Amino acid sequence: MKGLVLSGGSGTRLRPLTHTRAKQLLPIVGAPILHHILDSLQDAGIKETVILISPETGNLVKSSCGDVWKGMSLEYVVQDKPLGLAHAVSTAKDLIGEEPFLLFLGDNVLKGGVKKYVNEFESKKMDSMVLLSKVDRPQQFGVAIFENDELVGMVEKPEIPPSDLALVGIYFFDKKIHKIIENLKPSKRGEYEITDAIQGLINDSVKVHHMRVDGWWKDTGLPKDLIEANTLLLQDIETRIDGQMSGGRLNGEVIIEKGAVVENSYIEGPVYIGEGSVIRNSNISAGTSIGKNCRLNTVDVGNSIIMDKCTLSAVSYPMSDCLIGEECVVKGNVDPRLNVVLGDRSVLEVPD
Ligand code: TTP
Repeated sequence: MKGLVLSGGSGTRLRPLTHTRAKQLLPIVGAPILHHILDSLQDAGIKETVILISPETGNLVKSSCGDVWKGMSLEYVVQDKPLGLAHAVSTAKDLIGEEPFLLFLGDNVLKGGVKKYVNEFESKKMDSMVLLSKVDRPQQFGVAIFENDELVGMVEKPEIPPSDLALVGIYFFDKKIHKIIENLKPSKRGEYEITDAIQGLINDSVKVHHMRVDGWWKDTGLPKDLIEANTLLLQDIETRIDGQMSGGRLNGEVIIEKGAVVENSYIEGPVYIGEGSVIRNSNISAGTSIGKNCRLNTVDVGNSIIMDKCTLSAVSYPMSDCLIGEECVVKGNVDPRLNVVLGDRSVLEVPD
């Protein structure tokens, strides 16, 4: 089977960060979300993957992922407009051909990857399968409808949810889905919906299997989701110190990449510190990922993502739940209650 990863879309909810990059390239634990997805497809034994890209950010995605990912070949197809997930599938149809495929939304993260689900789909020779996860607010998701344990339908963002099981952004299809999509009409919001296509399969008496995911699943549509996905993924790291540490103290699981220097600082894991970053006289607490070549001096940061080449110095208050784009500068009396989201190359300086 092939992989199909959707890396188009508009990413409006993650502006301003998505003004300068594809949202699928936003980093969690030191690597773009998309790289984590490609790792999980490759780990599941998939040999060929198609990445759907947008005209605006496609080149960034191509240069970030290349033509081969750890032995898995990559091909790209451009979706001219983000007309919906089913439209994205039809755009990639020629590259997928007759093969069954795993559709993975490029902004989704799933604990433990997809190997187990790929094995189930392939060994049972299924026509199609969806993954489901229990959610607190089903009103915000595509929700499954069951009759006697059988999946009989789905409804997009229901006011009165028929269950609390949401559709995870990972789907398994065979070629029958293409015929259904050819006849699909746009929904009220003007998009060709994948939920309508799956409903079409069910209406055509195609068995749509389902599996519940074991661990957490995160759709990183909003800044807080990205921070949460980072926190969750950090829970699985194991300590690895390839950089230097002098003075201060480490607690919990911490990765310090090569060329990074941590001096006179207290690091309370899980924390990730990227290549070439220098941290001095600071407190870095749980749930924080720091990118490459950052400079942090006299700051207190927790539960945040700080992207490459940022400078944070002499920040008077502890910072928490922040999402700081590349090459940003933060200094002075910055009030943590701001819940800062900074686009690339921003400066946030509050004088005394
Ligand atoms: P969404 O999060 O639904 O849409 P979006 O990326 O446009 O974001 P926003 O609502 O903030 O503007 O998309 C889920 C994933 O699917 C995401 O990785 C983008 C991708 N996608 C496409 O590739 N093509 C599409 O037509 C759509 C709607 C989404």
